[in-house]
Amino acid sequence: MSDTSDAHLHDFPSLFSLAGKVAIVTGGSRGLGLSSASALLQAGASKVFISSRKPAACLSACAALNALPNRAPGAVAIPIPADLSTLAGVRHLVAEVTRHTPRVDVVCANAGATWGAPLASHGDDAFAKVMNLNVRGVFNLVRECAPLLERGRGEDPSRVIITASVAGLGAGPEGTYGCTYQISCCPRPLSPAGRELPGLPPPPFIPQTLVNTDMNFL
Ligand SMILES: NC(=O)c1ccc[n+]([C@@H]2O[C@H](COP(=O)([O-])OP(=O)(O)OC[C@H]3O[C@@H](n4cnc5c(N)ncnc54)[C@H](OP(=O)(O)O)[C@@H]3O)[C@@H](O)[C@H]2O)c1
Repeated sequence: MSDTSDAHLHDFPSLFSLAGKVAIVTGGSRGLGLSSASALLQAGASKVFISSRKPAACLSACAALNALPNRAPGAVAIPIPADLSTLAGVRHLVAEVTRHTPRVDVVCANAGATWGAPLASHGDDAFAKVMNLNVRGVFNLVRECAPLLERGRGEDPSRVIITASVAGLGAGPEGTYGCTYQISCCPRPLSPAGRELPGLPPPPFIPQTLVNTDMNFL
C-alpha cells in the first residue's frame, strides 16, 4: 500500500504568501522590475513603491499595477521617481517611502545600467554610469533603507534582493557590465544585521517577450 500522506501540504498557500508586506522595487517602471512589482502585489503585498528616473513611466506603471484585479483589498503601488545613481536620489526615495510607512519588508534593488565596449575604447563616462547605479547606488540604497528594514517583522526577516546578472560569472566582451555584477553577485558585505540578502543573476532576456511567454535567450 502506498503512503499518500506526502500529498497533503500543510497550509500550502501561506508558503508563497506575501500578505501585508511592504516593498520597494527600483527600476520598477518596466522590464524585470515591473514584473517583480506585479508578482509582489499579486502575492499579497499591501504597498509596493515603484522608483525610476522618469516620473511619467513610474505613474503609468503604477496605474497598470493598481488595475490588477487580484491585488489584496486596499493594496497599492506608489510612484516615487528618483535618480538612484546619486546619493541625493536615494535619500529622496527613502524619505518619501518613510512618509508612507515606518517599515519595509522587501527591497528589490533592480535598477541597473549596462554598457558594452572593448576595453581600449571603454569611456570613463560609461564606466561611471554603470558603477554609479549598479554598485554605488545599490550600496547607498541598502544603507539608507537599513532603518526601515530593521523595523521589519520579528520572526520573518526583511529581505534585500539584488538583481545581478550571469554576465558577472565570467569575463566577456561586456567588460564593465560583468565586472559590476561580479561585485553585486557577492553582496554579503552590504547586508544590514540580520537581514537576508540574496543576489539574483537572471540569464539574458528581452523582458517584454519573457512575461507570460517562453524565455527568449539573446
Ligand atoms: N534584461 C536582461 O537580459 C538582464 C539580464 C541580466 C541582468 N539584468 C539586470 O536586471 C535588471 C533589470 O533589467 P531590465 O532588462 O528589466 O532593465 P530595463 O528594462 O532597462 O529597465 C531598467 C529600469 O531601471 C530604471 N533606471 C535606469 N537608470 C536608473 C537610475 N539612474 N535611477 C533609477 N532608475 C533607473 C529604468 O527606468 P528610467 O529609465 O525611468 O530610469 C527602468 O525602470 C538590471 O539591473 C539589469 O542589469 C537584465
